[in-house]
Amino acid sequence: MDSTTGTALTASATDVKRLSNAFCHAKLLLTAGELGLFEDLEQHGPSTQEELSARVGLHARAARDFLHGLVLLGLLDLEGDRYRNSRAASATLVPGAPDYIGGFLHRANHMLYPAWAKLTDAVTSGRPQTAGAKDAGAFLRMLGDPAQRGQYLQMMDSANGLVAPHLAEAYDWRQVGDVLDVGGCRGNLVSQLLLRFPGLKASVYDLAPLAGAFAEHTERLGVADRATFHAGDFFAETPLPVTADVVVMGHVLHNWSPEQRAYLVKKAYAAVRPGGALLIYDAVLPEEPADLARTLVSLNMLLVTEGGSEYTAAECGRWLSEAGCQDVSTRPLGPTDTLIIGRR
Ligand SMILES: C[S@@+](CC[C@H](N)C(=O)[O-])C[C@H]1O[C@@H](n2cnc3c(N)ncnc32)[C@H](O)[C@@H]1O
Repeated sequence: MDSTTGTALTASATDVKRLSNAFCHAKLLLTAGELGLFEDLEQHGPSTQEELSARVGLHARAARDFLHGLVLLGLLDLEGDRYRNSRAASATLVPGAPDYIGGFLHRANHMLYPAWAKLTDAVTSGRPQTAGAKDAGAFLRMLGDPAQRGQYLQMMDSANGLVAPHLAEAYDWRQVGDVLDVGGCRGNLVSQLLLRFPGLKASVYDLAPLAGAFAEHTERLGVADRATFHAGDFFAETPLPVTADVVVMGHVLHNWSPEQRAYLVKKAYAAVRPGGALLIYDAVLPEEPADLARTLVSLNMLLVTEGGSEYTAAECGRWLSEAGCQDVSTRPLGPTDTLIIGRR
């Protein structure tokens, strides 16, 4: 089956049965990540089943099938009697690797997998299925806990780190003096832009508990002298306390209800200086059922937020028009996202 469109499923019982068990594939990967197996193999090099089992804690009854499953998924290679990470696993599943997506894995394992087990409740009630989504203070408490905050930040870096190179290409940043990222987390996206464009300055507007993480991250990446953090709650303050040539709002709108999205677009657009632009990115939905991956992301938002979902470019265009924007354009932003540009 084509994992993007989901359209190539044949009428065979085998195909449909395989689909009914597709969660097994995901859980093999998630459990291997949870056990630190990829990190362990990278550190120790090719290892036998017994060596690996002893180090990461696999039971003898499970080890062979579990490791063979990972080989068959393309995550491990087996040479003789020794396992090692496949190229894909080394590039994405080992901390410090260039395309490390450990944050995604953690979220998928601990948040999404249990929530998808309650999909029936979600699609019949329209209600989220995680404790955090139903408790307004949970997000701030999570940000106050160093371990959980660390996981969250890593996940956000993974998400916007994939988008950043495409965003750098999609706009003429050499003409831009400064950029404001609304909901810009610890500043990973703006840091990637600052690294590429030495004439650019950047600020991030986000919740106060992220101020320290922003300072550390921008310092570590060597861009702290051109980066500023503004702490605040984008639902509590009017207007935003800073303006910019370009305002970015990415992976933010899909967390909120349509009414809240319209409010946030209006507020972000008001922070754009005349002649500039508001850049919005998300896994924007096609009008027709043409993208399975984005449809699944949208269902994730049903499961983990009170009112969120992905949305279409036309819907976003309406929020921009209501905000006073008369020049809206849309373009792809890498494989997973769409960029909507509202010029002012
Ligand atoms: C899903 S993350 C997106 C992060 C980043 N823009 C990206 O593309 O990965 C949403 C961001 O919005 C921030 N946020 C959530 N509620 C907020 C609020 N009320 N005011 C300001 N920022 C908020 C979060 O702290 C988080 O950094």
